[in-house]
Amino acid sequence: MNICVVGTGYVGLVTGAVFADLGNEVVCVDNVAKKIAQLQAGQMPIYEPGLEEMVARNVADGRLTFTTDLAAGVRRAVIVFITVGTPAKDTGQTDLAAVEVVARQIAEAMERYTVIVNKSTVPVGTGNLVREVIERHQTTPVPFDVVSNPEFLREGSAIEDTLRPDRIVIGAPTQQVAMTLLELYAPLERPMIITDVPSAEIIKYASNAFLATKISFINSIANICELAGADVTQVMKGMGLDPRIGPAFLQAGLGYGGSCFPKDTDSLIHTAATLGADFPLLRAVVDTNRERASHFVRTIEKALAPLDDKTLGVLGLAFKPNTDDMREAKSVEVINRLVERGATVRAYDPVAVGNARALLPPGVVYCESPYAAATDADGVVLVTEWNEFKLLNLERLRTVMRRPAVFDGRNLWEAERMKRLGFEYHSMGRKPVLPS
Ligand code: UDX
Repeated sequence: MNICVVGTGYVGLVTGAVFADLGNEVVCVDNVAKKIAQLQAGQMPIYEPGLEEMVARNVADGRLTFTTDLAAGVRRAVIVFITVGTPAKDTGQTDLAAVEVVARQIAEAMERYTVIVNKSTVPVGTGNLVREVIERHQTTPVPFDVVSNPEFLREGSAIEDTLRPDRIVIGAPTQQVAMTLLELYAPLERPMIITDVPSAEIIKYASNAFLATKISFINSIANICELAGADVTQVMKGMGLDPRIGPAFLQAGLGYGGSCFPKDTDSLIHTAATLGADFPLLRAVVDTNRERASHFVRTIEKALAPLDDKTLGVLGLAFKPNTDDMREAKSVEVINRLVERGATVRAYDPVAVGNARALLPPGVVYCESPYAAATDADGVVLVTEWNEFKLLNLERLRTVMRRPAVFDGRNLWEAERMKRLGFEYHSMGRKPVLPS
């Protein structure tokens, strides 16, 4: 099938590469010429395991091309995917400006029947909006359909998630249109839900809001565990064995960040309000998440106060492991608060330092290894649970530190082991190991 993907961000680039890998002819469009030039030269604008190889393979085979020429891309395509950014406005409302611009350009370029698919995360009603924009701006009045096909990929496992999604949601105005998408996705052999456009749009937000709710719920339980002397990791295990609850997304810690959950929860609250429904549950989820970084810094402060003469080694800056993405990363909030209190911060991340520099305060010292970050530190603060931190030589870490205090924002290490190794150890929702 001839496919055009407009927008080469996370979703667009990964989707385009995977469709090409399935044997389709894919052209990826972006209006940023520099990005397209980089992609044509084989350079990836994002870090994603397996992406570079997949893109290279399909470019070499001639199935995947990159261009700034949207009209040319649209004219040769049967299906056009809209995968442009949908950032949040200050009000929490989703900014659909890029979607509208692209819809207008598609309308102006279309010369024959085309299926336009919204893959960007867009609030319910956007399918209608796109249809209206296209109707208004068509130069050649050809028929078209607008479909909602939300993306559920996670950063760090984007290729795997796109090749083996839990489900494929297709919101289409008619069965016939749905069949076109069904045919495209058939080789993946994954469960498909065929529904109407607004339901598909809501499935995406409801899923992310529910996952965010699980995280804020367990973090609230973690607060209670801290006060009651209980262990949230045990509580989570006990809850997770109930199949109606399940263990996934019940890791207590610094809360959720990234480009999706914070934005999507705000957007759903806004959409609900616009439609006349209040969503106090989701507002509490957002507030609970906002509290996590300050709660963590209070723990650090309580143990080490005053912080103005202290050095802290921060491990992990990306919003989660296996990505260089710093959007809504908890490290920014944690480090800002530490620096505000006068602490010296020595930071290490395996891949996110390049992106972190612009977001973190100027005085932060960037280190080449976790051990360098911990050298002469009064405490090590773990913010992102990269696997390499799990495998650290903790004896070596302790010997380079001035004071062996560890603050684990993701419950990565076992309290018993930290105690044996002679650390003072504070984590989330578990009893601290205090110096004897
Ligand atoms: C998420 C959704 O999983 C994906 O389906 C959607 O399309 C986009 O948003 P992503 O933002 O890549 O994907 O990250 P994800 O792995 O889901 O983690 C989100 C955040 O939740 C991270 O900050 C992570 O640290 C946090 N988290 C996750 C927890 O704090 N506890 C958990 O138990 C799970």
